[in-house]
Amino acid sequence: KITRKTVKDIAKAKGNTPLVMLTAYDAPMAELMDPHVDMLLVGDSVGMVVHGLPSTVGVTMEMMILHGQAVMRGSEQAFVVVDMPFGSYETSEDQAFLNAVRIMKETGCQAVKIESGAYAAKQIAHLVERGIPVMGHVGLRPQAINVDGGFRAKGRTETEREIVINEARAADRAGAFAIVIEGVAEDLAAEITAEVSCPTIGIGASAACDGQVLVAQDMLGLFDWAPKFVRRYADLRTEMETAVKAYAEDVRSRNFPGKAETYTLRKP
Ligand code: KIV
Ligand code: NA
Repeated sequence: KITRKTVKDIAKAKGNTPLVMLTAYDAPMAELMDPHVDMLLVGDSVGMVVHGLPSTVGVTMEMMILHGQAVMRGSEQAFVVVDMPFGSYETSEDQAFLNAVRIMKETGCQAVKIESGAYAAKQIAHLVERGIPVMGHVGLRPQAINVDGGFRAKGRTETEREIVINEARAADRAGAFAIVIEGVAEDLAAEITAEVSCPTIGIGASAACDGQVLVAQDMLGLFDWAPKFVRRYADLRTEMETAVKAYAEDVRSRNFPGKAETYTLRKP
């Protein structure tokens, strides 16, 4: 029986092998990725990538649980982390714990992720002490774009650097098993990675991190735009458009279905 990676496997990768993480939102994609990754993230980016929301602010607990269940069904060896959506953990330790328990129980995932401003150290410690591994998320925090006025890189001024370092320190000391660093310059990512005891997972945060994560649809080229930090490993958008156009043409010209795609009466 294949067993899943654990927090121990994640911890011992620091300083050794770079950790590989991708987002997954459904069972077939999780199944395809599972043999190749250490961790799968059911990110609240699902709201933008799959549901067409303008930001992750509108993502609900129900959405995260539904997608978390699908990804757990599709995977067998990856360590699966589910994002806690905006509004599900900020109020108090109790609120964070009750919602994290729901996610853990209803999906069977192994950990949750919290976009962790320094204030969230309380929530992280509370969850870890009660048996829920927590991944922190510092730097660019997409759930806070309405305060920032948009998606932009973080830590490019001295004041902002201090804020991001403090967020990372707070998450590490509170017992986070790993920390996502999003949208910061290389020297800041390197400084944080050297200082914290847990692995850092970068997205738009340079090769200085202990691992990398990308939104799957971005690296597969499913959208006509992707941020600077994404490398496109495929151009699925063009492939899919070509396929859809060809199908439409074939139906309209009665070229599909053909003989090979048609049932015939069985000979008696
Ligand atoms: O929701 C998400 O996909 C994320 C990653 C980009 C880190 O939080
Ligand atoms: Na997220």
